[in-house]
Amino acid sequence: MPHVTEANLTDLAIERWKNIPDPRLRRIMTSLIKHLHGFVREVEITEAEWATAIDWLTRTGKMCTEKRQEFILASDVLGVSMLVDSINHRLATGATPTTVTGPFHVHDSPELEQGANMADGAPGIPCFVSGFVRGLDGKPIKGAVLDVWQTDGDGLYEAQRDTDGPWLRAIYRSGADGAYVIRTVAPVGYTIPMDGTIGELMQRTKISHMRPAHIHFLVEAPGYHRIITHIFQAGDQYIDTDVVFGVKEPLIVNFEKKPSGRMPSGETSKAPFYDVKYDFTLQPGA
Ligand code: BEZ
Ligand code: FE
Repeated sequence: MPHVTEANLTDLAIERWKNIPDPRLRRIMTSLIKHLHGFVREVEITEAEWATAIDWLTRTGKMCTEKRQEFILASDVLGVSMLVDSINHRLATGATPTTVTGPFHVHDSPELEQGANMADGAPGIPCFVSGFVRGLDGKPIKGAVLDVWQTDGDGLYEAQRDTDGPWLRAIYRSGADGAYVIRTVAPVGYTIPMDGTIGELMQRTKISHMRPAHIHFLVEAPGYHRIITHIFQAGDQYIDTDVVFGVKEPLIVNFEKKPSGRMPSGETSKAPFYDVKYDFTLQPGA
């Protein structure tokens, strides 16, 4: 082996890490070394900075538990989660695009009837979300599963509330004509967790740590590409600065504010409420 120099070290490391039988792992590792070395060379990292980075990564790892994933948050705020999502869900024009899953999805939400309230007893402005699930050919999709989760009107998810039962989450199914109806409360914009190592880093920037108001959806039906996405409230003050880069144009939706009176459920509301119309378009596929 030639003696190591600053100039030849990257080539030597790539050459050694080519010695991996699995071609995909070989490709990933050699590319990682190339870009990691490129980064270290470009910024000429100091020993003190590298020690700080290792310490930060160590503390980030120590923060991760069953309930909290600080590394995913790092991936989110650096735009990597959305890049992975975009590469893995290159859908046809017209199909509802995907966006980040986020850490707050809970499996096995209760199944509710069309129009049933998934926000019973929760703070917030009443909000009806309805529309159709269709294929790219415009045909209605019957029995599509819509797994829905969001914050309450205080900006808190179930995991952030001291609650026994399900909170602001439910599963709905589209009817024979592809229609779905959800009753909830309007979500509000919220901050990502700032009490960990990501927060520590963000505090040293001028970057907003807020997400615009949104409702999460996982929509699936046999024979169609499953999507995980959000709808975002048009006009939200954080819509252009989402800290996790999740906002895509087709996902921005008008939350129409209606005056007090008869709601789509037939009940009378003494306060104004939101009426939101949104159609999901699924691409055929696995
Ligand atoms: C969310 O939308 O729930 C979320 C996504 C990424 C980071 C934090 C929260
Ligand atoms: Fe969210």
